[in-house]
Amino acid sequence: MILKIAVLPGDGIGPEVTDQSIKVIKCIGKKFNHKIELENALVGAAAIDKHNDPYPDETHQVCKNSDAILFGAIGDPKYDNDPKAKVRPEQGLLKMRKKLGLYANLRPTKVFKSLLDMSPIKEERITGTNILFVRELTGGIYFGKRGRKDNDNFAFDTCEYHRDEIVRIAKIGFEYAQKRTKKLCCVDKANVLETSRLWRETVQSMEKDYPDIKVSYEFVDAVAMRLVQWPNSYDVLITSNLFGDILTDEASVISGSMGLMPSASVGSKNALYEPIHGSYPEAAGKNIANPIASILSLSMMLEHSFNLKKESDIINNAVEDSLKNKYVTPDLSSGKSSYTTNQVGDYIIDYIEKN
Ligand code: IPM
Ligand code: MG
Repeated sequence: MILKIAVLPGDGIGPEVTDQSIKVIKCIGKKFNHKIELENALVGAAAIDKHNDPYPDETHQVCKNSDAILFGAIGDPKYDNDPKAKVRPEQGLLKMRKKLGLYANLRPTKVFKSLLDMSPIKEERITGTNILFVRELTGGIYFGKRGRKDNDNFAFDTCEYHRDEIVRIAKIGFEYAQKRTKKLCCVDKANVLETSRLWRETVQSMEKDYPDIKVSYEFVDAVAMRLVQWPNSYDVLITSNLFGDILTDEASVISGSMGLMPSASVGSKNALYEPIHGSYPEAAGKNIANPIASILSLSMMLEHSFNLKKESDIINNAVEDSLKNKYVTPDLSSGKSSYTTNQVGDYIIDYIEKN
């Protein structure tokens, strides 16, 4: 099979973790006889430096012409403390999501048996945790009307949702729930927000089409609390853009390191795969960043975009094996001996070659 992949390493630790995934996909290509065609493109601060645009048209074309996109990270501290900066790296990510129609963000959160002691939450509370967030990604307050008034002394951002945008997210949620434990939770703030009431009403109206699914409706503040209290009580959660942004960061620490969590952003045509950890500029260039989230994102790509289950499974097994044998980067070593980004990548490849 030919796998045409756009590679957007981006900023911070993006390039070094993406490098490991590239090594892994090349190894998979060799082992399973696939032709891997990679095309690199600029995004984020790296693209601003060259084109003054965090998502240049050139990059958009590369993405559109690919079967799937592997993304690293976006963000650079030189923009963070300047609220007046007109062009920001993060705009690249938002523009890319919108232009490619990547309306649903899938963020799985699970715990690894060998890392139960790494979690800030007690073992008995997290054992068995296996959550899938389906976050709406191209609407809501991220894309509503915004601006300033009153001589810049007043600012507003508007949360807007159309029923259709909710239906397509709920559909994904229901379908995943059917393949999993048949539980779906709609996370909203329907006691206050009109958009949340529309979310609730829409999901309620769809329940009859999925009689096998048990749906619960919970307020986002309560979910934020229960996620750290009893994370293993949730399965599939669907939610709006901003709530999903916040809750998935919260949930990412349950496993012990944010450096483990992959994600997929999907739409009707394209799909993008990225670690959820962000650019982590303090670690950039030091060869200490955990490449596993990127490698697991690649695994998600093989399964979702190419239907290559065997190839995806072997990557997941290689990751489990590296964790079990404590072949890990410093974020997971509890002060004991650790390995570099590169070494962890090499370990995974070695496992794939031998198994
Ligand atoms: C994420 C990030 C982005 C978001 C930023 C970088 C724009 O936090 O993917 O969760 O808020 O969506
Ligand atoms: Mg976020």
